[in-house]
Amino acid sequence: MDNELELKKIEKEIYNDNLPLKETAKNLVFGKGNPNAKIMFVGEAAGRNEDEQGLPFVGAAGKNLDKLLNDVGLSMNDVYIANILKYRPPENRDPLPDEIRKHTPYLLKQISVIHPKVICSLGNYATKFFLAGGDVDKMKDQEGITKLHGKVQMVKVNGVDIKLIPLFHPAAIIYNRSLIPIWEKDMEIVKKEISQKTLF
Ligand code: URA
Repeated sequence: MDNELELKKIEKEIYNDNLPLKETAKNLVFGKGNPNAKIMFVGEAAGRNEDEQGLPFVGAAGKNLDKLLNDVGLSMNDVYIANILKYRPPENRDPLPDEIRKHTPYLLKQISVIHPKVICSLGNYATKFFLAGGDVDKMKDQEGITKLHGKVQMVKVNGVDIKLIPLFHPAAIIYNRSLIPIWEKDMEIVKKEISQKTLF
């Protein structure tokens, strides 16, 4: 089956699942981009705009993400974007461990269909999830994004080796402009990693 169809099946599965946050959210925010991408970006959870439109990264953080993809010569056609949580937490509060536990099996399914070579984890939650090997109880023992951003490492996801590049969350850059030069430097790392021949 082709990736797009397989992703549609997973989306339907989520839709039919009684996941936490489904009650309070307006829409399921599943993912967007190229289902055959070699690079995946994984964020935290939908905000207000994403919840309204049912698409990830369409608000202010999304504009930042579009810009930085552009800066390294990529567009939404080259990547696939999904979140740790599939529904918006009320008032954008932090994800709870039980929510992460129940939502991330679907993220792992998305990853197993797409088969990316590189995952850019955006912010603390996505980074810690991958570093903890998907074990939510171990997320609290992982180092934070301030220490880890731009440090490329191999992680196992669904038993497969994937290159993880932790990045500051594009929303953090909106509130803290001093992160811009750091972010730009990290983007150079992304650029270098994705331009490696082995990726394609
Ligand atoms: N922030 C995220 O982590 N994900 C989105 O989809 C939007 C904002």
